[in-house]
Amino acid sequence: MKSTPLAVIILAAGKGTRMKSDLPKVLHPLNGKPMVAQVLATVQKLSPARVVVITGYGADDVEAYISKSFKNVRFARQVEQLGTAHAVLQAKKLLGTFAGTVLVVYGDAPLVTPEALQTLISNHRQGGHTVTELTTTVSNPTGFGRILRDKKGAYVQTMEEKDATHAQRKITEVSTCLYSFTSPAIWPLLAKIDNNNAKAEYYLTRIMSVAAQAGRKVNALTIEGGLELLGINSPEELAAAEQRLTAPQSEGNTFISAEGLPDDLAKLIRSSKTPLEMLNALPAFLKKKLKGQTIHGTVEKGAVLHGDVYVGKGSTVHSGAVVEGPVYIAEDVTIRPHANIRHGTYLGKGCVIGHSADVKNTLAVKGCKIQDGTFSGDSVLGHNARVGSGVILANRKFNQSSIGVSFNGKKPVDSKRDFLGCFMGDDSRIGANAITSPGTVIGQHTWVGSGAVISGYVAPDQLVTVKQELEYKSKQRISLKAGKAITYDL
Ligand code: UD1
Ligand code: CA
Repeated sequence: MKSTPLAVIILAAGKGTRMKSDLPKVLHPLNGKPMVAQVLATVQKLSPARVVVITGYGADDVEAYISKSFKNVRFARQVEQLGTAHAVLQAKKLLGTFAGTVLVVYGDAPLVTPEALQTLISNHRQGGHTVTELTTTVSNPTGFGRILRDKKGAYVQTMEEKDATHAQRKITEVSTCLYSFTSPAIWPLLAKIDNNNAKAEYYLTRIMSVAAQAGRKVNALTIEGGLELLGINSPEELAAAEQRLTAPQSEGNTFISAEGLPDDLAKLIRSSKTPLEMLNALPAFLKKKLKGQTIHGTVEKGAVLHGDVYVGKGSTVHSGAVVEGPVYIAEDVTIRPHANIRHGTYLGKGCVIGHSADVKNTLAVKGCKIQDGTFSGDSVLGHNARVGSGVILANRKFNQSSIGVSFNGKKPVDSKRDFLGCFMGDDSRIGANAITSPGTVIGQHTWVGSGAVISGYVAPDQLVTVKQELEYKSKQRISLKAGKAITYDL
């Protein structure tokens, strides 16, 4: 079957008043390139037959940049910015007779993925609609067009915020303003949109109602994606997008390698962008792996196992240790006397857990040592990570909010967890008696000295030591507080 051809219209005529800058909004850089470059790169993945960019404010600059960097892009100018529907209509000269699917995207929405657009196009074509609007749900819908539905959930109308009632403004399903149209049927419908609204603008979001009234088939398709599907309107949103775009690569799990691990664990690690994702996936992973108690190693007399526990070949659970499943103990693991291994723990090949250590909801991938009397909760330990005696990988914050975590030294991102321990990269170490705050990240090959109290992000390949010198003078006690010596008279 011959597939329907695709044309894409990119709206890029607006000034972007809320950016508070003279630079046309779509030329604001994101990840080192103008936003519109990101959009064009995404669009090209869909192999469109035609691409038309609507320019207006700063048209010369926008067109010059795009022509220099991208081939086969045509331009249509919108001299006055009278609204998004008016902007799309400027492409009629170039696409008025085009027979196929027309996709509308935005030069200020650079985080939209090719997958989301493909989902929109496929739904449009399969359903034989004239208009398909993509919608999503966000926690704060301020500024976006709201999707009105009837009691049965059927689409009624898209309402711009300025025209919405107080009750309608509470709706969190919003228009992404991403559309798939059937051309040429769409063009006379677009021309019917009026500007009888609070802003006297020709709103593209009116197209669903106009097409439905003309007896055309329309659909409002909801997908997950939230803010990524929506445009960037302010410098703050641009900064947040920058962080999201750059984070995956640097967070991209370079901390813990998948090499030399059993296939299923390697897969878990490869499919996780961050060690946080690994930790979050751990319970389901264990559930899949465990069924009752399977013992291929040695469980000494006096050791106790509860629940679903696997003990691999060559592993020993010494007398007095307690293992409370679900716990997976791979091959050649040593659990010393009186250690407590609690639910949600995976101990990879060759791990050693010291006397009286307490380990809960921890992924120790391979060859890790958790020494005597140490606590590890809600943590991920990379290859050969070592944690000295008496260390506390603290996992609980003493206030109501969830715990932030950063894998690249940038502003911590909400982990959405109440309990979160430490992430240790491959070959990292923590010396005896150190304490890490909830959500601490220690880069690969980094060593943290004994007694340190650390939090936040520690880059890879560092040596972190804390030297405290205590001095006794007669009748005086001297102690260290936050790096400063305090002298008390006794
Ligand atoms: C628009 C939608 C809103 C939706 C939101 C999603 C309308 C009326 N509203 O609002 O329902 O929730 O997107 O991000 O469509 N543009 C032009 N010419 C114009 C006006 C705008 O080219 O005359 C371009 C802008 O440069 C921008 C895009 O269209 O790239 C969107 O315009 P903007 O003013 O940012 O619309 P929103 O208020 O975000
Ligand atoms: Ca916008």
